[in-house]
Amino acid sequence: MSSESAAIGTSTDPSATAAATGDQPVGAARRRGPFREGERVQLTDERGRMNTISLESGGAFHTHRGFLNHDDIIGKVDGSVVVNNVGQQYQTLRPLLSDFVLSMPRGAAVVYPKDAGQIVTMADIFPGARVVEAGVGSGALSISLLRAVGDQGYLHSFERREEFAEIARGNVETIFGGPHPAWKISLGDFQEQVVRTEEPGSIDRVVLDMLAPWECLDAVATVLAPGGVWINYVATVTQLSRTAEAIRADGRFTEPDAWESLVRGWHLEGLAVRPDHRMVAHTGFLLVTRRLAAGVTGISVKRRPSKTDFNEDDVNAWTPGAVGERLVSDKKLRRAARDAIAGTNVKDDPEITN
Ligand SMILES: C[S@@+](CC[C@H](N)C(=O)[O-])C[C@H]1O[C@@H](n2cnc3c(N)ncnc32)[C@H](O)[C@@H]1O
Repeated sequence: MSSESAAIGTSTDPSATAAATGDQPVGAARRRGPFREGERVQLTDERGRMNTISLESGGAFHTHRGFLNHDDIIGKVDGSVVVNNVGQQYQTLRPLLSDFVLSMPRGAAVVYPKDAGQIVTMADIFPGARVVEAGVGSGALSISLLRAVGDQGYLHSFERREEFAEIARGNVETIFGGPHPAWKISLGDFQEQVVRTEEPGSIDRVVLDMLAPWECLDAVATVLAPGGVWINYVATVTQLSRTAEAIRADGRFTEPDAWESLVRGWHLEGLAVRPDHRMVAHTGFLLVTRRLAAGVTGISVKRRPSKTDFNEDDVNAWTPGAVGERLVSDKKLRRAARDAIAGTNVKDDPEITN
């Protein structure tokens, strides 16, 4: 991998404002109004089964129980009920961001909507904020961060793998209807690139979703403004512990807080009102800390870990395989990138089809 960062989409792109309509923020117009050709629609049949289709004039959605003409949906208002050639009814809805994220093309695991919501709120991502993020993966979290910073904000996302960056770019442009004016994505390792591209103390918020956030400590301390928030999303307890101890030992940050969120759906039917039998039990842990002013040492530092807290064997154990990251073939990534750029959802997540 080249050590030079390469921007693959920048806020200076002249087409960046193409998706803005009048006074509306980028992407807002395509979230409203009647269904248009080319957009995605979620169909729910009479048995609650869901399918997501892309509307094409002259196209049809076929099942073993007849077919539904796309032209019977194009021009209808969101939430209409339409009927196929044998009288089957379908409820039609424009997919929400949470639906899109769970069914969009992906190369790496995405941040689930429940965690994206926590990150936006607990890291205090505000309209106009200057945010840096890594890694980009499939761009799920980038989309939530862009919505939160808005057109006047700034999100610079770093990704070490070009194929992932391409998938993310495709997904971001699909949901916003084109490039987002606040987004810049660069290739390379965050810890090397962010200090080359951002002024010291110029960043309001840092959001990391990667294998080894502790390797970014110096870079984060350099670019983050005093009082700025650094939030980490990690999958395992070992990553959580290592990141927390590194932050404590460093002394330039506040005492870190960690938590996880568990969201359990409920079955609602007559008197049978109870928690669902199945749930997504684990996604990741969140760890948040804030940058102290220059020259200040945190008052809540309770202990400094000794050098023996982590030995070489521990460090060597932190490989993608050891922490359960799935290795994805280059072929699959190339296909996902093609689908993302074409704005084609390739699968429906079982979580949303139940
Ligand atoms: C789990 S994925 C991120 C998923 C993403 N947040 C989403 O919601 O779609 C982790 C990504 O971090 C990238 N990565 C790991 N270490 C990195 C680093 N030091 N700098 C930049 N990217 C890194 C990996 O290539 C991978 O794409």
